[in-house]
Amino acid sequence: MPAEDNQIVHVIEINSDKDIIRARKIVRALTIELGFGKLDQAKITTVVSELARNIFLFAHCGVINAMSVERACKIGISLSAVDNGPGIGEIQRALRPYTSSSNGLGVGLPGVRNIMDEFSIKSSECGTEISTVKWLEKYG
Ligand SMILES: Nc1ncnc2c1ncn2[C@@H]1O[C@H](COP(=O)(O)OP(=O)(O)OP(=O)(O)O)[C@@H](O)[C@H]1O
Ligand SMILES: [Mg+2]
Repeated sequence: MPAEDNQIVHVIEINSDKDIIRARKIVRALTIELGFGKLDQAKITTVVSELARNIFLFAHCGVINAMSVERACKIGISLSAVDNGPGIGEIQRALRPYTSSSNGLGVGLPGVRNIMDEFSIKSSECGTEISTVKWLEKYG
């Protein structure tokens, strides 16, 4: 069976506070299903919370894609956040701790980058796409 037939994919629309909670629940369940330990379950759930909260705060609506990934005998979880909001003006600045354009602490994105193994941002005045992956250690 090709690997993609086993892939788990969740597309979670973010339009409200309730959707952030829903995204947390779905992602926590996925981390458990994939075999992440308790600490990683908590960290990855925090990541989806931060990404979803940023969508809601800065773009009002968007989508979180949560899926299993398999590459070179490794498995992991991929979380991406996509919106059509105003975009992040200065990406390098946004990635520095304690720089927030709202009343936040400005620790969301730096925290996401620290927790995840892969992290990239594409952003323009037409929207933002943040893509991340966390690999499962000691798989198999
Ligand atoms: N999806 C997004 N669209 C537009 N701007 C964004 C988006 N996500 C983040 N930003 C910008 O990047 C900055 C840094 O984001 P970050 O999550 O680190 O901090 P914050 O949300 O302001 O505060 P915190 O997450 O600590 O409550 C934000 O202040 C905002 O200007
Ligand atoms: Mg934030």
